[in-house]
Amino acid sequence: MKLELQDRVAIVTGAAGGIGAATVRRFLAEGAKVLAVDRARDALDALVASLDSKSVRAFVADVSKADEVRGYVDAAVAHFGGVDVMFANAGVEGLVRPLVEFPEAEFDRVLAVNVKGPLLAMQRAAPEMAKRGGGSIVVTASIAGLIGSPGMAAYITSKHALLGLVKTAAIELAAMNVRVNAIAPGPVDNRMMRSLEAQSAPDNPEAVKAGFTAQVPMGRYARNEEIAEMALFLASARSSYSTGAVFVADGGFVTH
Ligand SMILES: NC(=O)c1ccc[n+]([C@@H]2O[C@H](COP(=O)([O-])OP(=O)(O)OC[C@H]3O[C@@H](n4cnc5c(N)ncnc54)[C@H](O)[C@@H]3O)[C@@H](O)[C@H]2O)c1
Repeated sequence: MKLELQDRVAIVTGAAGGIGAATVRRFLAEGAKVLAVDRARDALDALVASLDSKSVRAFVADVSKADEVRGYVDAAVAHFGGVDVMFANAGVEGLVRPLVEFPEAEFDRVLAVNVKGPLLAMQRAAPEMAKRGGGSIVVTASIAGLIGSPGMAAYITSKHALLGLVKTAAIELAAMNVRVNAIAPGPVDNRMMRSLEAQSAPDNPEAVKAGFTAQVPMGRYARNEEIAEMALFLASARSSYSTGAVFVADGGFVTH
């Protein structure tokens, strides 16, 4: 049986995090060669050591820095021969603060990682994909790109902006046979939600989790693996006619 990503080269950013690590595992299981990128060196090294595979390499980089993005794309080409899949997944939740108090520097930081990071990834990866006849770029947006939420001015703004970038990139890069799509997860049961829960109510984060869960018709958070499955679908030829689209995986959160 042919694997979904047999001999495809994939770059995964935010690879040391919940969704990223699950996706690295899923891509490897489908035959990909994976450059796992994160700025958290220790967590990244631990992940790659645990995988014990010649098909994965770690690369430490800050996705918001153009020279470091050039570095990870060049490394994928040098080690694996090119780039077929770019999963621009790294992101930060930022501080939870009322809008009138939101620190300017924090707003800039969140937009640099969540919006400029994927732009730089597209700029560098798309020409490499074109050399191999095309490819697939997938970004991790969020239902935070579809709805507002109090206290999260930077994160909500960043994910809305990211969807605009995806639509524009899809139009421009179609001529290179490069597809560009976004995943919009609802709450995922991992570190990022723990941070948002704790920031929202330091004395009672469980109550915040219960409140979010109550807004999900399916009555639970997502597992990292469920988002990785969507990333695999969008990375592979199974989604060959989809571009510029937002794929929601939220247990029904944005239906109401
Ligand atoms: N957890 C959720 O509920 C949820 C919901 C919707 C969307 N998302 C999005 O999913 C993506 C992955 O997040 P996650 O849920 O796995 O959380 P996570 O915090 O576990 O993973 C994020 C990873 O990105 C890395 N990272 C952050 N800034 C970076 C930078 N400048 N350069 C390189 N690496 C950087 C972190 O080190 C971390 O390993 C993010 O874009 C996030 O916004 C998460």
